[in-house]
Amino acid sequence: MTIAERPSPNPFLAGNLAPVQEEVTITDLAVTGTIPTELHGRYLRNGPNPIGAVNEAKYHWFTGHGMVHGIRLRDGKAEWYRNRWVRNPEVSRALNEEAKPSDWPAKHPTFAANTNVIGHAGKTFAIVEAGSPPVELSYDLETVKISNLDGTLPHAFSAHPKHDPQTGEMHVMAYYWGWGNKVQYLVVGVDGRVRRTVDIDTQGGPMLHDLAITEKYALVFDLPCVFNLDAAMKGAGLPYYWDHDYNARIGFLPRTNEKATSADVKWVSIDPCYFFHPMNAYDDGDEVVLDAARHPKMFDRERRGPGEGDPTLTRWRLNPLTGASHEACLSDRPQEFPRIRESLIGHSYRFGYCAGIGKDFAQDTLTKIDHVSGAVVARKDQPRFGYGEPVFIPRSQHGAEDDGWVMALRHDTTTDTSDLALFDATALDADPVAVVHLPVRVPNGFHGNWISDSA
Ligand SMILES: [Fe+2]
Repeated sequence: MTIAERPSPNPFLAGNLAPVQEEVTITDLAVTGTIPTELHGRYLRNGPNPIGAVNEAKYHWFTGHGMVHGIRLRDGKAEWYRNRWVRNPEVSRALNEEAKPSDWPAKHPTFAANTNVIGHAGKTFAIVEAGSPPVELSYDLETVKISNLDGTLPHAFSAHPKHDPQTGEMHVMAYYWGWGNKVQYLVVGVDGRVRRTVDIDTQGGPMLHDLAITEKYALVFDLPCVFNLDAAMKGAGLPYYWDHDYNARIGFLPRTNEKATSADVKWVSIDPCYFFHPMNAYDDGDEVVLDAARHPKMFDRERRGPGEGDPTLTRWRLNPLTGASHEACLSDRPQEFPRIRESLIGHSYRFGYCAGIGKDFAQDTLTKIDHVSGAVVARKDQPRFGYGEPVFIPRSQHGAEDDGWVMALRHDTTTDTSDLALFDATALDADPVAVVHLPVRVPNGFHGNWISDSA
């Protein structure tokens, strides 16, 4: 009996979260509808997928070996699907393979690069937070090497770099438990090399999953899910727990001053909560508007995966000059994995897309919010289909904000297979423009991107 078939007391090993145990390459995929001929490239998605058996009582969903799934589209066809484990030393050993080349210092930790997969400077990287390196992948998702960005990455990276749409540079907020009460802001140039680092003092060691940028600031999420030394000493898979006494606050590092240091960061306290993912942030006069998928807490009672209450889409208006903050719920529908038109990162925007979240973080609905009207379109195909993170792909550089497609992997419970569904973003509740059928299941995972061949 494989791990995927065995009933599990750990909800994060069951259902459409259960890992697969085989790498496959499948060509000439069946398609329903019409794949837009503008789409030349790969849809890639990363997620935790442990090899073999794990300790079900202790397994934390965030820590499984990384597996990247990819679908290549070209000339209106779906040329291939493939899935590959991301080879760090542990994965190579488990697969009885030689270790991949590594530029990473031996004294730095390596663990599963399982959270996101991005394109930058003509390369593809599987990435993770908390001190482990980016892993460079080939176009066909084979592991090329464990990277330190040509020797320029001091140590930790992040699973959520943000591309500045004006410069193409990546902005990154990194953390590592060994740094103590400190995180590190990085700017990675269009050449793929780190060109700026700023160490920022925090109150403890926060689990800092993402950042937001505006034209004026890089935002630091110093929130109450923090490194717990006792838990680490006892061998916890992910020793970051909710701290009831921690001051939830957001830092604002000026971007307009390239010499800004930790001393220049302005802090604004907010009511206790946790968020992994901002939808977007932007300047509005002296204030900053921040939208994020707000969890009431994180890793307080449930310490094997998110499970402290529904994540809801929330807007904060924050004033770094006065310290004022105001919080309002935009949509109380449980949702996560917020995405937008990426050319509007850091700028005023109208539309956002999310995956609805069911019990135990199961895939659920597909949503679009209109921040001008407040309207939410929620595409619900349950019980048959559950949607993963939606990615927006613009039809052209200069079209209307939602002129393009929303692309998402979804799990078909009637066949236990998955497909890649493409919707016209202006008609999310209409039939898909195209569906690429996969004869295998893609487990629910984390993040992905459309990486155009011309990028
Ligand atoms: Fe994430």
